[in-house]
Amino acid sequence: MCTGVYPGSFDPITNGHIDIIERSAKLFDKLIVAVLNNHDKKSLFTTEERIMMIREATAHIPNIEVEYFCGLLMEFARLKQARVIIRGLRAVSDFEYELQMALMNKKLAEDIETVFIMTNCHYSYLSSSIVKEVASLKGCVKELVPPNVATRLRDKFAD
Ligand code: PNS
Repeated sequence: MCTGVYPGSFDPITNGHIDIIERSAKLFDKLIVAVLNNHDKKSLFTTEERIMMIREATAHIPNIEVEYFCGLLMEFARLKQARVIIRGLRAVSDFEYELQMALMNKKLAEDIETVFIMTNCHYSYLSSSIVKEVASLKGCVKELVPPNVATRLRDKFAD
């Protein structure tokens, strides 16, 4: 049984994330989408809301589990007996942060590998932050996020 973990804040999940999930689910028996439950970080959506949106948007993928984690990602990966962490890479600007995280995670857990998947070029400009900004200014995010997320963003920013 080969398990992969795709961690992130997912505040909220975007079509860029969905693309990475669909592609990486094919590489593992089970893919766990691990949502960071970080009380310090100011999120637009609660952890429960983020998990629910991901579950709805990935219902068509059979080998997916969506869970939250607190604390160290490597502890969570060990608990789940996962040997691979998946991260998406968009532009060169992502690289420095991702390298630092991957090296620190390697230091913490020698036996767990971080594997990078290049973003689909259609989504290389996309991030949760930019989606939130557009939605907050009443811009259209229909093509950027799954329909259930677009609805929740509209509700969140409704006057
Ligand atoms: O979507 P994000 O915000 O880029 O995801 C970042 C995330 C959640 C993968 C990262 O912040 C993380 O793994 N946090 C858990 C704490 C941890 O393990 N830190 C040590 C490694 S840097």
